[in-house]
Amino acid sequence: MTGLVVAMDGPSGSGKSSASRGVARALGLRYLDTGAMYRAITWWMLRQEVDIADPAAVAARALDPELTMGTDPDAPSVAVDGADASGPIRTAEVTAAVSAVSAVPEVRRRLVAQQREIIGDGGIVVEGRDIGTVVTPDAPVKIYLTASAEARAARRTAELTGTTVEAQKAAMARRDTLDSTRKTDPLSMAPDAVELDTTPLNLDEVIAEVLRVIKEKV
Ligand code: DC
Repeated sequence: MTGLVVAMDGPSGSGKSSASRGVARALGLRYLDTGAMYRAITWWMLRQEVDIADPAAVAARALDPELTMGTDPDAPSVAVDGADASGPIRTAEVTAAVSAVSAVPEVRRRLVAQQREIIGDGGIVVEGRDIGTVVTPDAPVKIYLTASAEARAARRTAELTGTTVEAQKAAMARRDTLDSTRKTDPLSMAPDAVELDTTPLNLDEVIAEVLRVIKEKV
């Protein structure tokens, strides 16, 4: 399976992360969470007190933080300037700010370049929003995961504390709109991607379906 690149795209709460890690584990592949890279830059910008509402200010600092990605599907990690940031990038503060930072072209350019470097000769499952369309348009397997707004909000609510399904639904709708209407590399399905609606499926069923598609394609 060296050389294989599996591109997994879709909106938040579609089950991408768990499915991508499960598929990577099943096939002995590496795993790259590109959302964690956008979150890590966002976390760093907030800590540096960069005004994230000002795209020029974000662009000016886009190259400053050094990101190191751990690609073991059993222990994925992200470090910023050498310090582990895997916990802090999941806070509500970062989640609320990440769409603005990831809309800045200079941020995307630098992260896409780093993602291509990590992908290298392949042997990896890569999850994000623009993997099949921009990062690796030649990937032999592209999956686009979807799920109903209710299912996505319910999954996110189960992962978090102190929130409700209704609040999550509103927050996700806001993030989806920002992520799919931004000018640079918006969330969209590659024409050659296989769409998989995960609403009625549990995690094992999603993984099995993705493995079936991979077997069929490769
Ligand atoms: O998958 P996630 O929720 O951790 O992603 C966080 C944000 O990063 C998401 O709102 C959009 C952005 N993102 C992106 O623009 N491109 C990617 N390839 C991955 C994530």
